[in-house]
Amino acid sequence: MIVEKPRCKTGIDVLDSELNGGIPVGSTILVSGGSGVGKTTLCMQFLCNGVKLGDKGVFFTATETVPKLKKHQNVFDFFDEKLIKSGELSIIDLWSISDRLGLSPERYNLEEANILFEVIRDISKELDAKRLVIDSITSLCYRLQTREMIREFIFKLGSSLAALRCTTLLTSEVPPRVFQYSQYEIEEFIADGIIFLEDVERRGDLIRTFQIVKMRGTSHGRSKFVLNISEKNGIELAPMLKSHV
Ligand SMILES: Nc1ncnc2c1ncn2[C@@H]1O[C@H](COP(=O)(O)OP(=O)(O)OP(=O)(O)O)[C@@H](O)[C@H]1O
Ligand SMILES: [Mg+2]
Repeated sequence: MIVEKPRCKTGIDVLDSELNGGIPVGSTILVSGGSGVGKTTLCMQFLCNGVKLGDKGVFFTATETVPKLKKHQNVFDFFDEKLIKSGELSIIDLWSISDRLGLSPERYNLEEANILFEVIRDISKELDAKRLVIDSITSLCYRLQTREMIREFIFKLGSSLAALRCTTLLTSEVPPRVFQYSQYEIEEFIADGIIFLEDVERRGDLIRTFQIVKMRGTSHGRSKFVLNISEKNGIELAPMLKSHV
């Protein structure tokens, strides 16, 4: 008998059903896509939905400042600043931590990369986070000087968070219409899963699409869905009408 791995329910209906219940607990997933496709919102919704299910979450931001991120996410019904006050959701500026640790503002050496890795791991452990987001791994990778450093960083982070039974989403920025899921091409091979968000042009309109490209340790659907963003429902997925594709 195959024993199914425990699942981390995202609370985004279609995503959970396509994954047979959710992301396998402890996985590291790349949420990849171009500018403005909904990467940050999907990740924040994953954390806020998690709190409702009893999972503490931590969001490391390396693209927007904390006040801007809060302001942008506050428009969505799923987001509630009370979750931050209660300590169930933590939002942390990755570059502020890096500065406070005295790390280089440009490129990290091996020792600096290791310090940052240890701090992220220790914070997650101390907060007892079961869900973690780094937004974006692309901007973090920029500070890691070599492909080996990127590989080592993501691998170590993924395995230490898996040991804490913490499920991780890393956002990955890619230019539109480029057939890769990460800037440095290493991230996509190390990650356990890839969720790809894309803008598709249809009769002059831009439609957002969603697709699970890979997910180690589970069977899953690979269909494209239309992704809508609304204040009431946040990210919502609907089947793509084939005739319009
Ligand atoms: N109140 C709202 N209702 C509906 N859609 C919204 C609302 N606020 C923002 N959006 C949409 O969400 C998009 C931004 O989503 P998000 O920040 O999650 O994308 P992203 O992929 O993280 O972008 P970036 O590449 O800039 O980091 C905006 O471009 C806008 O189209
Ligand atoms: Mg973003």
